[in-house]
Order: sequence, then C-alpha cells, then structure tokens
Amino acid sequence: MSCLHYKQNELYIENVNLKKIAEEFGTPCYVYSHAAIRNNWQAFDQALHSFSHRICYAVKANSNIAILNILAKLGSGFDIVSVGELERVIAAGGNPQQIIFSGVGKRENEMERAAELDIFCFNVESEPELERLALIATKHNKILNIALRINPDVNPQTHSHITTGTKENKFGIAAEDVIPICQEIATMPQLKLIGLACHIGSQITELHPFLLAMDHLIRLYQKLKRMGFNIHHMNIGGGLGIIYDHEHPPSITDYATAIKEKFKHDSLEIIVEPGRSIIGNAGVLLTRVEYIKQTHHKNFAIVDAGMNDLLRPALYNAWQTILPIIQHQAETKCYDIVGPVCESADFLGINRELAIKAHDLLAIDTVGAYGFCMSSNYNSRCRAAEILIDDHHIHLIRRRETIADLIGLEKLKTDA
Ligand code: LLP
Repeated sequence: MSCLHYKQNELYIENVNLKKIAEEFGTPCYVYSHAAIRNNWQAFDQALHSFSHRICYAVKANSNIAILNILAKLGSGFDIVSVGELERVIAAGGNPQQIIFSGVGKRENEMERAAELDIFCFNVESEPELERLALIATKHNKILNIALRINPDVNPQTHSHITTGTKENKFGIAAEDVIPICQEIATMPQLKLIGLACHIGSQITELHPFLLAMDHLIRLYQKLKRMGFNIHHMNIGGGLGIIYDHEHPPSITDYATAIKEKFKHDSLEIIVEPGRSIIGNAGVLLTRVEYIKQTHHKNFAIVDAGMNDLLRPALYNAWQTILPIIQHQAETKCYDIVGPVCESADFLGINRELAIKAHDLLAIDTVGAYGFCMSSNYNSRCRAAEILIDDHHIHLIRRRETIADLIGLEKLKTDA
C-alpha cells in the first residue's frame, strides 16, 4: 500500500504536505515515510515471530544511512554486496554480527574488511570464491562462517533483468555441485558451513517459485545433515513483490506462513533478505512540470526528474504511479511524462491520464526501493535530495548535490 494520501485535495506523507517539501527543498526530491518503513519491517518480524529468525534488509534497495539506522534500531540485520554497503551499515550503527555478505564478485579487500569486522556470514557463490575466502581466513587467523548460495533453477516469473535463480544466471551454485563443494569445505578448517541460501529474483508476485526453491534447499539440507554437517540456518533471500499497479503479490504474512510451513519439522534459523518489500512503498519522488509540449501526435509533460533520477521505467519498462500533488480542475489529457535527459528512454510514465499544467508538482509513487540508489549523474545532473518524514517532523537525510560535488573529483591534465 502506498504511503501517500490526499487531504483536501493535497498530497501528504504522514502529517506533512508534500507541497511544503517541494517548496522548501526543491525538486526532484525523494521523500520517505518512517512509519511505512517501520511497519513493513515489523510485519516480517511479527509474521516470523514463532520461529527463530533474522531479517537481513537488502541494503542495495536503499542504502541511505538514515534509513539503515532506522532498521538497525529495530534490530534488523543487513544483506550487503560490497564493502561500500558494509561501511554504510557500520556508519549507520548496524551490528557486524548481523551482516550477511552476498554477491558473485567479492574482491579480496572486501572479504578482508568483512573478516576483520567479524560479520555473521559470507554467502559463497562459487568454488574459486570459496578458495579465496579460505586464504583470507588463514591470513587473518580466523574461522569464517559461510553459507552456500544455491541456484535452484527456478523461474520466478518476473522481469528477465531481475531473475537470478535459473541456470542461465550467473548467481549461485548448481544443486548438483553442492555436495562435492561441501566435501571440499570439510577439508577447510578455516571455514565453517553454517547455512544454505538462495535468492531467485525480485518483484516476485506468486508464492509458488519460493516454494519450489525452498524444496531444493530442504533436499540439500537433509543430504548434508546425513553427511554430518551442522547446518544452522536457511536463507530464503529476498524477492517478495509489492504493488506498483494491479499486481497481487502474497502478503508478508502469507509469505512467512509458507516459509514456516516448509520448515516446521526442522529446528533451523530462518533468514530472509527483503529489500523492496521493506522500503519500496515507503518512498516517493517529487518532480515539477517544466513544460507541457503538444506535438501533432502526442502530449508530453516534461518534468524536472529524469532517468538519471529514477531508472526503473527506462531499464525495466516498470510502471510507477504518477499523481498530482495538488488536485485541481484542469482538463484531463493523456500525457507521456518525460524527463530532460537526451534519450528517448527518458520517461517516467507513458500514456497517463492526468489533469495537469506547467509548473504543477507531481509525485511518483512507490520508488523507495531501487530509486535513489540507482540514480546517476548522467547529463551532469546533480543527484536529488532525500527527505525522511516522521509524523510531522521533516529530516533532510541527503542534501541535493551541487555543481561543486559534480566536478570536485576531476582534474585538468597538467601540461608537460
Ligand atoms: N538478496 C539478494 C542476494 C539480492 O540479490 C537481492 C536483490 C535481495 C536480497 C533483495 O531483493 P528484493 O527483496 O528487493 O526483491 N533493481 C531492480 C531490483 C534488483 C534486485 C537485485 N537483488 C529493480 O529496480 O527492480
């Protein structure tokens, strides 16, 4: 459910009028609801409460340190994929013992820093990675916890760019390779196999693919148990879909109930790594209409946010609902909502029926996940500000970038 609501024809998040935010901080600007983040995280926690569980928020979905700090205070763990994300979690007050390090391409320095901080677990995705990690453990004289990320070859029925658990994908270890790799692990005293993991994709709107993936994990778990491995946890990954348009994803409760049902006979810790389902519906992007441009063929509303601010429509043809911040009596027409970037993929919405005019403010809904964190400086555009709303309080959690930020890292060539 969206965190937006109209009060007397004006759009609010919690008790703050978004018009006020746009006036004070300018546009484009990301705005998040503290209550929505908390409610989503607590929904996972409550739904899994009868089981030993750990919720490791997927930092990649939105890595602003103020947001990570909210989650750390709720008791969340974190799923990271780089040393940058690791340092963000630490800066946000996250507990290293609640960190899982995922990803197919962990560099040596990244593993070293994570080992130094004694993170909870490394999710290993290949044999060469295993060998690299073993060397690092030896060098640091530590025993490192690992889980193996399995590729169960399950189609999650989502966009191909965000499908990760089929044999076409680079992720995870094929089920048939797991046992030989575990035999190798048994000869590596510096690594301790404590879990099995999988993550089959993102924005998954049915339970069935999750059930199939869990069946794979259970089969492997039983084999490993018979071989004498002491597996402590099952990590189901993230991927639970949310509502952008007319999807009907399982609720967090339905999802958790299905997990509990699958693992009811085993005394394992259950780990989930939700990203989108925690932060997606908690964020919106505010933008202003610069021009209304009518061609012989189409109506364009050219706005001040572009594909550099919000990439999902251009990259995945993703639907994002677009709403006027102040509802008024203009004529409703069909518009393509486009940005100022010099690419025809620079759109935020196509064929939208809206009653708008130049200078109006719009809110692009449900962009809390994979919104700001995928933004760029393309066309030398400064990245947007980020604001967090908590009841009637307004917190600037990332200032808008300036031109000085844009060029500050660059240097003229010095003449010989
Ligand atoms: N765990 C792992 C290992 C992951 O790779 C991901 C996301 C998650 C957890 C969190 O998945 P979520 O609960 O957020 O679905 N940029 C794309 C989404 C990419 C997801 C990548 N992996 C988008 O905008 O749709």
